[in-house]
Amino acid sequence: MIVTIVGTGYVGLVTGACLASHGHTVRCVEVSEERLRLIGAGKAPFYEPGLEDLLREGLASGRFSVTADLAPAMKASDVSLIAVGTPAKGEDPDLSYLETAARQIGGELPACAGYHVVVVKSTVVPGTTRNLVCQILESASGLKLGEFGLSMNPEFLREGSAVRDFMEPDRIVIGQADSRSGDIVEALYAGFHCEKLRVGLEEAELTKYASNALLSVLISFSNELASLCEATPGADVETVMQCLYLDRRLSPEGDGARVHPEILSYLRAGIGFGGSCLPKDVNALRVYGKRCGVATPMLDAVVATNTLRPAQVVDMAEAALGGLSEKNIALLGLAFKAGTDDLRSSPALSILQALGSRGARVRAYDPCVGPEAAGKAGLNGFYRESLESALSDADAAVVTTADPAFRDADWARLAAYMRTPVLIDGRNVLRHVRLPETARYYPIGVGQTPWSARVPLDPLLAHRDRPARPSAAEEFAALPGAN
Ligand code: UDX
Repeated sequence: MIVTIVGTGYVGLVTGACLASHGHTVRCVEVSEERLRLIGAGKAPFYEPGLEDLLREGLASGRFSVTADLAPAMKASDVSLIAVGTPAKGEDPDLSYLETAARQIGGELPACAGYHVVVVKSTVVPGTTRNLVCQILESASGLKLGEFGLSMNPEFLREGSAVRDFMEPDRIVIGQADSRSGDIVEALYAGFHCEKLRVGLEEAELTKYASNALLSVLISFSNELASLCEATPGADVETVMQCLYLDRRLSPEGDGARVHPEILSYLRAGIGFGGSCLPKDVNALRVYGKRCGVATPMLDAVVATNTLRPAQVVDMAEAALGGLSEKNIALLGLAFKAGTDDLRSSPALSILQALGSRGARVRAYDPCVGPEAAGKAGLNGFYRESLESALSDADAAVVTTADPAFRDADWARLAAYMRTPVLIDGRNVLRHVRLPETARYYPIGVGQTPWSARVPLDPLLAHRDRPARPSAAEEFAALPGAN
């Protein structure tokens, strides 16, 4: 098929490159000259493993191209995908990019050679495709729905594994205005082997929000449990979680062994969820509920827990150092998660801000975030290009992403750079790492107090082999400032 894609962000570019590798002819439309040049040279404007290889393959085969001209691209194509951003704007998502894309596509519909289906891939609240997008397409084209097709086809791509997620989808959800539209979108995905669900437009729109809301519920549950463990001397959230995971309803048996589904990776305590999707989508669903007269106390609580979490990690640092004023803190991780350079709604940035407002001098390092991305986000004053320079003379380090570089680092060597080797582990990534004897390690979700990380937690339930744990009173006494 011949496909036009409007929008070359994560969704548009990954979709375009992957569809081209499946044999379709894809033209991505982009107005920015800088992005046109980059993408045309096979470079992705953001970090996404595997994407540049696909782009170069597609460009070389001629199946993928990027252009500033929508009209000729659309004229010959069967399908147009709208993959523009719907960022948060106050309470509501900003639909201006979506409206512009729909207007431009609508304007070209009469010139299309054959029946043409418009597919919304952008995340939009229920009713947007049927009402707003369809109405704009009709008024810009002078055609009626039926003379062109309409579909809503949400994406479920995770940054850092977006190419794999697209190539090996769990499911493909096809919201259709009518079965002719759905048939054409299903044909687009003929080469993908997974369940394809044909649903209504509103169901497709809701599925995307429901999926992200479920993930956010699991994360906030884990973080709330971590806070409860932190207030419970002797409790460790990792142990409680290991016990939970072994419920057969979460880890069923397959071939005589326990299967640990990937969803369990969202039942892990951390510093709160961030990124361009989860925070925005949970909020949009709450606002949608409000507009429909439906209370969403559970989603409200998910957001409240998430908002609290970064400050709780800063509290840990403050307690560990007996105050943050004039303290040098190395923030290890800037992006919203490991494996990406995306700083949007990153909880690490909330931690950076809170540390600064409590008087700390912060320097930050993230193996995935280059100086350019940091500079664009106004982080020049904080940014360091190596672990060593971030840790130099630091009174403490706060780990905010689960980057393998932090886990695999030689902490015996690195600790020597620090003024005091205090490690606050916001992601519990250093739990199984050999740390120098001098290190004071504070994992999240443990009692209220420091407790050695060098406790074997793997294999599951290895707690029987643990060394005797200090009593809460001993731990309290070990806290700086305690007397
Ligand atoms: C998410 C969805 O997973 C994806 O299906 C959707 O299409 C887009 O939004 P992404 O934004 O890439 O993808 O992030 P994801 O990997 O899901 O992580 C979201 C946030 O939750 C990150 O900040 C991550 O660090 C955090 N997280 C995740 C936790 O804090 N704890 C966990 O246990 C899991």
